[in-house]
Amino acid sequence: MAHKGKNVLCGNWKMKLSAAAAKALALELVPLSRELRHSQIWVAPSFTAIPDVAAVVRGSALRLGAQNVYGALEGAFTGEVSVGMLKEFGCEFAIVGHSERRIIFGETNELAAERAAAVLKQGFTVIFCIGETAKERKENLTGEVLEAQLWALLTKISEADGSHLIVAYEPVWAIGSGVVAKVQEIAEAHMTIAAIWKKRFSSACPPILYGGSVTADNFAEIIRLDLVAGALIGGASLTFESMQKLARISEEAGSC
Ligand code: PGA
Repeated sequence: MAHKGKNVLCGNWKMKLSAAAAKALALELVPLSRELRHSQIWVAPSFTAIPDVAAVVRGSALRLGAQNVYGALEGAFTGEVSVGMLKEFGCEFAIVGHSERRIIFGETNELAAERAAAVLKQGFTVIFCIGETAKERKENLTGEVLEAQLWALLTKISEADGSHLIVAYEPVWAIGSGVVAKVQEIAEAHMTIAAIWKKRFSSACPPILYGGSVTADNFAEIIRLDLVAGALIGGASLTFESMQKLARISEEAGSC
């Protein structure tokens, strides 16, 4: 799914909104999405909320996706959902490799990369999350960690598969912590990601989002960074007021 050079504001609603609450929020976001010239709002509700949100977003500018997906077409994969199942409800993207999947549910670099590669090969958009822990940053391992996480994916895909890829740089220590990364740290990490891409492919690096405690108070300077194509937003995506503020900031910054 092309984002056509617009800033992507992707709400990751995690396991936080019931189907009714997700639907109510989507109803407010639909008219806001229509007004935006330089930005797109994407939302990733829980699987159980997807049908209700799908009914609301159909035909609108609001883009719907999932928080996870499995690459197999079908089969004995208890608890998993396929690309085809998501498409049935108009989903256009899925988040893969979120640090909560990696850390809480034990998804390895290899599994996250396999999931993402199989999904990209089906022509489906993936937001692939990578990022270092506080300990890794302290030990100066950020570059190595980003490379290991991203390289696992890049060795499994073709350059053409990469046209459906969006990378999200999400330092683990910034997620849900209220501690946002400094602009310098974000800029460096995004440059590292672009350099890793260049080691493997000659095409331009896919869009890179930043995620981790993004709010209306810190977003203006982040969205203005050269290699930042938008944000993956957790806590601040859960209310209309906050999304409206983020959308205004994104519109003022102009296209990425
Ligand atoms: P946060 O979450 O904005 O609440 O830090 C971001 C994410 O987990 O994608």
